[in-house]
Amino acid sequence: MKLLIDDANIARIKAIYKYYPIDGVTTNPTILKKCGGNPHEVLAEIRDFIGRDADLHVQVVSTTAEEMISEGKKIPATFGKNTYIKIPSTPEGFAAMQALSADGYLITATAIYTPMQAFLAAKSGANYAAPYVNRIDNLGAGGVETTKTIQNIFRNNGFTTQILAASFKNSQQVQALCEYGIGAATIAPDVIEGLVRNACVTSAVADFTKDFEKLCGEGKTTLDF
Ligand code: E4P
Repeated sequence: MKLLIDDANIARIKAIYKYYPIDGVTTNPTILKKCGGNPHEVLAEIRDFIGRDADLHVQVVSTTAEEMISEGKKIPATFGKNTYIKIPSTPEGFAAMQALSADGYLITATAIYTPMQAFLAAKSGANYAAPYVNRIDNLGAGGVETTKTIQNIFRNNGFTTQILAASFKNSQQVQALCEYGIGAATIAPDVIEGLVRNACVTSAVADFTKDFEKLCGEGKTTLDF
C-alpha cells in the first residue's frame, strides 16, 4: 500500500517525510485554502521538496468537462511527471476522465462516496479512485466496507484502477484497509503520527535507555564500547 500525505503545509510535510516512508502528497482546494498562500507556489514548493519521482495529486476546480480537460492538461505540464489530475466523480468529471485518459494523462477520480461511482471512474480510465472513508462513515454507510466493496468490484471486473483511500480520521480505518491490501492511502499528518503514538512504546524505550545507563553510565550508548 502506498502511503501519501493529505496536506499542503510544507512544514508538516517535511516533518512527516523526516521519519516515515512516504510515496507522495495529495491536495484538494480545501486543503490549499487551509494552507493559505498562492496555490501555484505552494504546489511548486511541495513538488520541489518531494522530488520528481514522488506522486503529487492536484485537483481541478472547474465544473464542466471541457474546462476540466483544459485544467487537467495544464496540471502535469506545470508540476511534472508523476502528477495525477484529481477529477471529481461527477457526470462532467467522467467525461473529462475519458478524454484525458485517452490521451495518456494520470487521473485520480475523487469525491467517491459509493461503489458505483468508483466503477464508473474505473471504466472512464482513472488510475486511482479515492473513496472518502470517514465522510462515508459519517453518513452511516461504512467507509471501510464501501472501500472493500470497491476493491472487489475492481478485481472482479479486471480493472487496473487502484484505490487511493482518503479522508481518514483514525488508525483503525487505516489498518482495516492496509490489511485488505488496497493500492494507496492518503492520510493527514496527525493521523499518520497517531499510527505509532503509544505510551507503552515510549515507556518501553525509556526503560531500555535507563537500564543501559545504569550499566554503563549516563549518556552512554553502544558507541562507547
Ligand atoms: C483526498 O485528497 C480528499 O480530498 C481528502 O482526504 C478529504 O478529506 P476530508 O474528509 O478530511 O476533507
